[in-house]
Amino acid sequence: MTTRTTTSAAALSPLHRPGPDAEWWRTAVIYQVYPRSFADADGDGTGDLPGITARLPHLAALGVDAIWLSPFYRSPQADAGYDVADYRDVDPLFGTLDDADHLVREAHALGLRVIIDLVPNHTSDQHAWFRAALDAGPGSPERARYLFREGLGEHGEEPPNNWSSIFGGNAWTRVRDRADAPGSTWADDGQWYLHLFDSAQPDLNWDNPEVHAEFESVLRFWLDRGVDGFRVDVAHGLVKAAGLPDWSGHVRMVDGETEPADGDGAGGAADDAPSDGPAGTGAAADPTAAADPTAADDPAPGANRGPMFDQEGVHDIYRRWHEVLAEYDGDRALVAEAWVDPLSRLARYVRPDEMHQAFNFAFLVTPWDAARLRACVAESYAAYDAVGAPTTWVLSNHDVVRHASRLGLAETGKGPNGIGAEDTQPDAALGLRRARAASTLMLALPGSAYLYQGEELGLPEHTALDDDLRQDPAWPRTGFTEKGRDGCRVPLPWSADEPAYGFSPTGRSWLPQPADWAPYAVDAQTGVAGSTLELYREALRLRAELGLGASAVRWAEGWAESPDVVAFVSSAADRADVLVVTAVGDTTVTLPEGHEVLLASGPLEARDGGTVLPADTTVWLRRG
Ligand code: GLC
Repeated sequence: MTTRTTTSAAALSPLHRPGPDAEWWRTAVIYQVYPRSFADADGDGTGDLPGITARLPHLAALGVDAIWLSPFYRSPQADAGYDVADYRDVDPLFGTLDDADHLVREAHALGLRVIIDLVPNHTSDQHAWFRAALDAGPGSPERARYLFREGLGEHGEEPPNNWSSIFGGNAWTRVRDRADAPGSTWADDGQWYLHLFDSAQPDLNWDNPEVHAEFESVLRFWLDRGVDGFRVDVAHGLVKAAGLPDWSGHVRMVDGETEPADGDGAGGAADDAPSDGPAGTGAAADPTAAADPTAADDPAPGANRGPMFDQEGVHDIYRRWHEVLAEYDGDRALVAEAWVDPLSRLARYVRPDEMHQAFNFAFLVTPWDAARLRACVAESYAAYDAVGAPTTWVLSNHDVVRHASRLGLAETGKGPNGIGAEDTQPDAALGLRRARAASTLMLALPGSAYLYQGEELGLPEHTALDDDLRQDPAWPRTGFTEKGRDGCRVPLPWSADEPAYGFSPTGRSWLPQPADWAPYAVDAQTGVAGSTLELYREALRLRAELGLGASAVRWAEGWAESPDVVAFVSSAADRADVLVVTAVGDTTVTLPEGHEVLLASGPLEARDGGTVLPADTTVWLRRG
């Protein structure tokens, strides 16, 4: 039973009011396409651009405003395309440049904007610049495009500093230790190069003007071809602290949470840092805490301040890129992938003359807990409103366990880096129920929302992949302790009764799909009342019709401090208020009378003449 709680007046003041600006990206729902796993047209088992183009009508019918494509550039695929060998060409695995142009045209014809992924922190080790750098040797201008250094120790046999790779292991590789060194002109070369990720992803030197010029040219190359924006990979990593000082912290992907440092470096989490990111800053978020988001030195514990991340210099780069995009028509946009906390610090990336959006990973990592969810929502609006940028919302992407599985784990929150067959398995039914509730809550919030392909099907993580099939470099680099991200990257099911569920015409699939995925297929859910696909379609239709993306929002009276209910009122101009109520956890809610049910993430119950919202369910209501 629900206990009604008192609500203070302060809690009911508006959390957010829309500003006067109406660029498309302020309210857009943006769908992430992971090209290798979306749809395969040529039958080789890997998704491709023609496959995506052929399936665009699914996305138009879903009701999203834009797509973001993960990398499709020429790449040896050491990190699934986040290792780019040529930023101006399409990898033959995915098609041709003509296919990319065709995709953009077709998307635009359907009213969908197209954002592409830009990877400026590092290139592939097969990029022409890196090959030239290896060949040209120490001290050359070619090496000055990357971060080559002499080693420490008498013979330079120790890496230049103590940084570790985000994928595990050392962040430095010695040139002579590369597998391709024997027989090369650099076989005896003792220098080391930095790679924050895999050794096949050397970090660029953003102190070099040539690097700046090259990426401005790459931006223009794709802007000229009509793309609507860029998702900027590891946007907080490009500039490193001068001298590359030692730092013993270890950064985890996506949330920017740092494990406690040894205390010998230039940053790291304080010992009292919240254990799971900014949402942990307390249930009663103080909206004024983010009042000065432009403060350069934010002492908040948990802030990610290692010498390789979130350095002041990155902002100059985005100011320049902002100018480049502004030369083009159509409100082109930049979105930051930056694991920076707290949110007030992340908001510095979206000040008026920098990027346009930043992924709100604080929301993704927030545990399924009413007070924590409210704190994150309040903190998000406070931080982004202070700089005039839209808040974004996201629950899944290609780097984390899918939220339909994450929310079925005993500990919700960021979740592990992959789940294997021998690990404790998520509760699939509970996870899906919560995922539907979480997504229905998210899609009612003003701002811009990101969806990850397959979440509209309620797709779970593949949690029983054969270890031999894993491709994420994190799996070997962590000494086979972290399963990695393959489980969220399994090809989509389109047709319940076809081989590979219709992913490819030949039935091939680069990762095997679980045997019980037929009910998740698009054709098995289309037109089926209560299916996850129809829930998302209806949510997106109503979100547009009711103007929820651009509404004002306040906590709902009676529930603003509830331990198990998140409830808010969304007020869009010239429309009736919408009351959104989520029962979080083991509780039920008797819904107020006199309201029309617009949407519910699961069946409601009739009881004693009233309507009851079951546990882990979200409802949208309008006063009748
Ligand atoms: C980003 C991408 C991730 C990739 C990493 C290195 O975090 O989302 O998939 O592995 O950057 O490029």
